[in-house]
Amino acid sequence: MARPTDTPAWRALQSHYEKIKDLHLRRLFAEDPSRGQKLAAEGAGLYLDYSKNRITAETVGLLLQLAKERGVAERRDAMFRGEKINITEKRAVLHVALRAPKGVEIRVDGKDVVPEVHAVLDKMAQFSNRVRSGEWKGHTGKRIRNVINIGIGGSYLGPEMAYAALRDVSDRAMTFRFVANVDGAAFAEATHDLDPAETLFIISSKTFTTLETMTNAATARRWIVEKLGSDAAVARHFVAVSTNEAEVRKFGIDTANMFGFWDWVGGRYSMDSAIGLSTMIAIGPENYRELLGGFRAMDEHFCTAPLEKNLPVLMGLLTVWYNNFFGAQTIGIMPYSDNLRRFPAYLQQLQMESNGKHVDLDGNHVGVQTGPIIWGEPGTDGQHSFYQLIHQGTKLIPCDLIGFCRPLSALKEHHDLLMSNVFAQAEALAFGKTPEELKAEGSPDFQTPFRVCEGNRPTNVILADKLTPRTLGSLVALYEHNVFTQGAIWDIDSFDQWGVELGKVLAKRIIPELESSSEPDLKHDSSTNALIRRYRRLRSGR
Ligand code: F6P
Repeated sequence: MARPTDTPAWRALQSHYEKIKDLHLRRLFAEDPSRGQKLAAEGAGLYLDYSKNRITAETVGLLLQLAKERGVAERRDAMFRGEKINITEKRAVLHVALRAPKGVEIRVDGKDVVPEVHAVLDKMAQFSNRVRSGEWKGHTGKRIRNVINIGIGGSYLGPEMAYAALRDVSDRAMTFRFVANVDGAAFAEATHDLDPAETLFIISSKTFTTLETMTNAATARRWIVEKLGSDAAVARHFVAVSTNEAEVRKFGIDTANMFGFWDWVGGRYSMDSAIGLSTMIAIGPENYRELLGGFRAMDEHFCTAPLEKNLPVLMGLLTVWYNNFFGAQTIGIMPYSDNLRRFPAYLQQLQMESNGKHVDLDGNHVGVQTGPIIWGEPGTDGQHSFYQLIHQGTKLIPCDLIGFCRPLSALKEHHDLLMSNVFAQAEALAFGKTPEELKAEGSPDFQTPFRVCEGNRPTNVILADKLTPRTLGSLVALYEHNVFTQGAIWDIDSFDQWGVELGKVLAKRIIPELESSSEPDLKHDSSTNALIRRYRRLRSGR
């Protein structure tokens, strides 16, 4: 495929950018009193107000033209058909099949995968009900009250984020914890106050070979066997979620207690596969089905809404607009929901592992900036920390502000305060404060330059009714397809992650050098050698 910069739409966007780059949102809103209603779209229970972006109707038209020239819709359809669009791994990309309704056919290598998806969902539901009802007992006959998911990356971030997001509909009599880091402190902290007889471990790993997960799983196994005094306890305290049956068996988990998924589910796209087992145990199969319903609603919207009304397409194109034309390096994700505290971390893997690529599908340098840096904190916390830089700093940081019309807590009086901040921040970022306004307010002249807020800081506001399982599904799918749209524009493989391999390989080489009792013959660069020697010398206190 041609480089994005070689397309007519890109060239037109470039000269359009030169014309409108200094246009202020104050002027755009003044010139069109209905802008706030016009530049908004709705789908799958989510309302997207994108009017406070530095765009005109012409910008939107050109971005949509770019989407057409880059074949976003065609690539989307190829994904939904099960074509192997992950070309570097020769794999289909079918997280959308995880929420396909029974009866829909999606084929990979000629085989309909939807019946298998539902067979796993049914097995998960049966198991979840047994754990939740107390029918599934631990080795000593006690019921399970604690669930610890051991996994990392996509086998951790989704489950942890979803549990935090949906904790108000979770079984409050149970404790859910998530261990990812190979730092022993993570395992020790997660287990220090738990009764092993009441604790179930879910070992979640697509490959079942990931160093961190396998190390923590082995520690968990020792913890259970030592505390409960028998190898037989493993059968009642461990289940596995994986695509690798042989490794699960080798670890000692009966494959009857294994929940499978498939190579066509990428790790960062797997929170609604069996990787969601901890989520289902927490919220119950009914709520889990609602979550899947939300995903599916956004899938349908992505497939059927015209591009100009298509939420993920619009958001993906706006990302390209700031990333490639304004040179913005980052996007801030600010959920105004304490339950979505881990949503930015979840989106970091989803977006940065997907679109942090430097070559296109032909293996040529992509020639433009690709995936932006994703970061964020919940509002209002961030306002008292880093928002200052967004308001008055020298960097352009487009932000997504996510809010809900109805609260989760009974403390309803808090909610108007919370939501007033969503609207106020978007307003302040867009319109700022002029010297004239400051003067009229009686601000002393000497303070004026320091108090001026230039405004023209873009935001998307995403508004939903309430943070329910269904809303969460729609929200996650919105970002999945937003990431997809960006990847299609840049013509990159959003579904591989070769960049993370090198560090893993080097760590494997260094492990024996740290563990060896005799001085190892180090053959790294002088910096790495010196660091290893220093560590070996100083670690004796361990
Ligand atoms: O860090 C790379 C990665 O492969 C992620 O893509 C993945 O989600 C994570 O490691 C965990 O992999 P696994 O589920 O195979 O343990």
